[in-house]
Amino acid sequence: MKIGVLGSGKGSNFQAILDAVEKKKLKNVEISVVISDVENAYILKRAEEKRIKAVYIDASPFRTKLDGEAEEKYINCLKESAVDLVVLAGFMRMIKKRFLEAYRGRVINIHPALLPAFPGLESWKQALEYGVKFAGCTVHFVDGGMDTGPIIAQAVIPVEQNDTPESLHARIQAEEHRLFPYAIGLIEKGSVKIQGRRTFIG
Ligand code: GRF
Repeated sequence: MKIGVLGSGKGSNFQAILDAVEKKKLKNVEISVVISDVENAYILKRAEEKRIKAVYIDASPFRTKLDGEAEEKYINCLKESAVDLVVLAGFMRMIKKRFLEAYRGRVINIHPALLPAFPGLESWKQALEYGVKFAGCTVHFVDGGMDTGPIIAQAVIPVEQNDTPESLHARIQAEEHRLFPYAIGLIEKGSVKIQGRRTFIG
């Protein structure tokens, strides 16, 4: 299974996926391309160092979505690399209809909260401010909404009394790095079936 990773930032989740591929924990998975909408994003540097195709594609004039000509360029780049599964790893834009039609049921995202609680930005901060006792992360299929698609897997951690946004975020990220490769492995094995909002593993 060839995957294309889209990210806007530091790429620690990409690194976790790459490590799982290199250590053969993720078998039959190849990272074909990494694309970023941020020219100097560290995720591109990480890919270049490993000689993985790393591409910056400008997504302007929009700020929060991937649309119009830019959307077309992203789809073309993924198709050129024969990508089977699109993995959003910290990609800070909404994916729109045309993209989702080109990769129907084959776009996944990781979110640093137990969805459907705390969608959107800085969700670990939202969780801490709300006062929840458990936090975590979610891997889900992407539909047209904001962090709303069918859930594939979640990991839960307790919120500690002395947690700060930074400490909670760090522990959530550690879970992400475990959960994302696991979920990709399930998809690669053909173990994930979607039925409406629910997914079934097996
Ligand atoms: C992760 O926390 C992910 O949940 C969110 O964006 C962050 C990306 O981090 N969607 P990184 O670039 O993988 O380090």
